[in-house]
Amino acid sequence: MCGIFGIITSQEQTLGPILIEAAKRLAYRGYDSVGSATVWASGQIDLRKDVGRIQDVSTRLRFAEMRGSRGITQLRWATFGAPSQPNAQPHLDSDGDMVGAHNGNVVNNVQLRELFLREGLIVRGTNDGETCVHAVERHFDHNGGDMLAAIRSAYTDLEGDYAFVITHRDEHKLYAIKKGSGLVGGLGDGFTCLSSDLPSILPLTRRIIRIRDGEIVTLAPDRIELFNVADGAPITRDEERYEGPIEVAEKGGYPHFMLKEIHEQPTVANELLHLLDSTPHLARFVEALRATGDRPVYLVGSGTSYHACLLGAYYFNRVAGCSAVPCLGPQFIEQYANSVGPQDTAVFVSQSGETKDILNALKVMRQKGGRVLSVLNVLGSSLAHASDVYLPLACGYEISVPATKTFVNQCVLFLYLAFRLAGRKTDELSALPRLLAEAVEVTDAPSRKVVEYLVNWNALHYLGYGMTHPIALEAALKLKEITYAHCEGMFSSEFKHGPLAAVHDGYPVLFFTLAGDEAMMINHINEVTTRGGRAIAVAAEHPILRKNVHDYLPVPASDPLLAPIVLTIPAQLVAYHMSVARGIDPDFPRNLSKTLTVD
Ligand code: F6R
Repeated sequence: MCGIFGIITSQEQTLGPILIEAAKRLAYRGYDSVGSATVWASGQIDLRKDVGRIQDVSTRLRFAEMRGSRGITQLRWATFGAPSQPNAQPHLDSDGDMVGAHNGNVVNNVQLRELFLREGLIVRGTNDGETCVHAVERHFDHNGGDMLAAIRSAYTDLEGDYAFVITHRDEHKLYAIKKGSGLVGGLGDGFTCLSSDLPSILPLTRRIIRIRDGEIVTLAPDRIELFNVADGAPITRDEERYEGPIEVAEKGGYPHFMLKEIHEQPTVANELLHLLDSTPHLARFVEALRATGDRPVYLVGSGTSYHACLLGAYYFNRVAGCSAVPCLGPQFIEQYANSVGPQDTAVFVSQSGETKDILNALKVMRQKGGRVLSVLNVLGSSLAHASDVYLPLACGYEISVPATKTFVNQCVLFLYLAFRLAGRKTDELSALPRLLAEAVEVTDAPSRKVVEYLVNWNALHYLGYGMTHPIALEAALKLKEITYAHCEGMFSSEFKHGPLAAVHDGYPVLFFTLAGDEAMMINHINEVTTRGGRAIAVAAEHPILRKNVHDYLPVPASDPLLAPIVLTIPAQLVAYHMSVARGIDPDFPRNLSKTLTVD
């Protein structure tokens, strides 16, 4: 999730401090590289960028002294194309007449870069932000130097969800377009500006213009104009006045980052599916999985990432008939180190890419000569550097300590890999983002209702069967993490082998149930209810299941392969609402940190 900011002023001035401040305000979105470009009144472009923190890069490259009457700054969160100086944004076109930067993902980036190179354009990096600039450049000459027309043509070439801002040295205007990624304009005294989101605009002005998908926006120092990308027709839009605090704007209007990130899940799942369709990394990854032959693939993760590995093993088995061994990092070392060798493959799964337990296990796999694959969200991480090939989770920065969107995308990625291993068409997965969106919408109110009962309990059980077992474990982890209650996740058939003794009057047990497993689950539910326990089903609507439980948290009906991922949403929402009901800040639970770099 990169961030862009652009400003145009009536007079040339020192723009550096404004650009640095805007970058700092976008930093909460996460980034690995930072860059700024200014255009002097004479048309000269000054571009400075590199990998690193804003403070370090801006000091070393002396951003503060940058002058101009147009300025663009960008924070890059690498998805494809390693974090590097050439891939940092903004980017120039071939002959340095234009400069621009983007936010989002251009999914046909690889194909377009090949086309540009064949056509003789000068492509300096592998980043899709550069692709946006060249996409405009190649149409600019054919359209008689008309930026608006060139952007409209580029729009038809660029697939994916993105927003970009671009300017030509000879025209005192900024141009931008929005397609799926955030973009908002700001109107000030003697300047206008735009940004991926509000927090970087609010210190400058509270007069804003909302930009919608499919709109091109032009900025002059005294006005913002909107055009429909489809036909070029002007659009009239009134400005608004934003009165809220900046902190609320940072959270996208949600009270906590966790809730914002839960709501982002349909979007990031959609983006990941598109990215996987188009990335050349995928073929290498699948090839390495296939090369392991009949030997099991090891799926190695910690905490929430381990739970995704558990579900991944089900997917590999059910969809592709491949055997996979999910394990924790230290478990991999203690249990499998002596039996793995060059013929084996391990997939190391980590949101941060810095978890020491996982890097330790990777080191052992390296010593044994096996293949090292990884799945991660932070592209410049130690895990990315240490792997033969990696796939990104493409979630953008996850701020809240409890992992939500990275878990969902880890599961989506494993399901996608299983389909590829089985030679099945992955468009069967295209319903998932819609189902997730529906689940976020329809399970919120029933989750709150369930929490009214759970909130006073300090011990409870979450049970799952088969593919919902990893979801029960993950749901229990989330609840423990942010409510401080004890919650044990288990395979439902195991409950009778001891833990059933915990059940007494009203003791809450949640049953995460897949379509097709209801009859089996009803047996396990009855074991609880006949002993006075309170059974709560989390499942798609099923009349007989409903009759057997005290409470029902219904989720949208879906294919059984997609259902475990859909069931994750109410699990997260229950944990979230119970945390808030207990007066805990779910974003920063006690004793925990987002990245664990210790043994
Ligand atoms: C729980 C959570 C942790 C992490 C674990 C591994 O919500 O976030 O359990 O999943 O610390 O972290 P990564 O995925 O960064 O290796």
